[in-house]
Amino acid sequence: MSFQLLPAVARRLEGKVAVITGGARGIGEHTARLFLKHGAKVVIADIEDDLGHALCNDYLGSSSSSFVHCDVTKEKDVENAIDTAVSKYGKLDIMFNNAGVFDEASNFDILKDDPLTFQKVVNVNLVGAFLGTKHAARVMKPCGRGSIVTTASICSVIGGIGTHAYTSSKHGVLGLMRNTAVDLGRYGIRVNCVSPNVVPTEMGRKLFKLKEGDEFPSFYWNLKGGDILREEDVGEAVVYLGSDESKCVSGLNLIVDGGFTVVNQALCSFQPSH
Ligand SMILES: NC(=O)c1ccc[n+]([C@@H]2O[C@H](COP(=O)([O-])OP(=O)(O)OC[C@H]3O[C@@H](n4cnc5c(N)ncnc54)[C@H](O)[C@@H]3O)[C@@H](O)[C@H]2O)c1
Repeated sequence: MSFQLLPAVARRLEGKVAVITGGARGIGEHTARLFLKHGAKVVIADIEDDLGHALCNDYLGSSSSSFVHCDVTKEKDVENAIDTAVSKYGKLDIMFNNAGVFDEASNFDILKDDPLTFQKVVNVNLVGAFLGTKHAARVMKPCGRGSIVTTASICSVIGGIGTHAYTSSKHGVLGLMRNTAVDLGRYGIRVNCVSPNVVPTEMGRKLFKLKEGDEFPSFYWNLKGGDILREEDVGEAVVYLGSDESKCVSGLNLIVDGGFTVVNQALCSFQPSH
């Protein structure tokens, strides 16, 4: 696979510098590829060192991308990831808080849920986003601009899809985004979320307990004739939120779900066309 820049006129992130947590694979990796295509420089911050280094060295190119080991639950690691972007590329324009985990062993039965697992999920998904937002704001504030995007989920707006821990963490991410949009808006910093439906990444496959090659279920998708949701589709939404095209957009939860969350599936079954 070779990586190609788009023609200058089509590059929507030209000259921008981004940090992407959880960027070594899945939605983060595909978003990093799109960011590079659109002319951004990217720091990938993840705990998967081998994957992250290979992505930067073999695919994205070492002049425009760097990998930094970063556990988003550790403040020093997050601080270091942000400072790496500033020292290597001179600034930070876009922070993409994307690292996340899912407690696939949960049985959707709160009586069997273990508090330590609950805390781990909240720690990565919510505290990680808090630390990323905090340290991005630290360097964006003096510049009076910046865009912070956090990956929430359709589980940020509806119950019954994810586990208790996952759904709680993603609802929390939404609250964090809304509050910090008010706080940081005073300094010209925009804060938004992107909320995907299920995507066939490693995490998406765990949700359905799928093995490699198993077909992904289509009942989570509400667009007739549409493909299932892919990592790039989420990445395109993040490109928009990171670019100046969304310069007036802050406090938004951009739901990328093909209309899934606006449909009451049970009531629709009574309509003749369904
Ligand atoms: N896949 C889906 O169906 C789906 C749907 C909605 C939202 N999301 C969200 O999208 C984001 C990305 O998920 P994905 O589907 O690409 O999953 P994935 O498992 O493929 O990738 C997650 C990435 O996060 C990294 N990560 C995990 N813990 C970390 C930590 N403590 N510090 C730093 N990095 C860490 C992993 O190493 C991995 O690279 C997550 O926030 C997830 O909750 C996923």
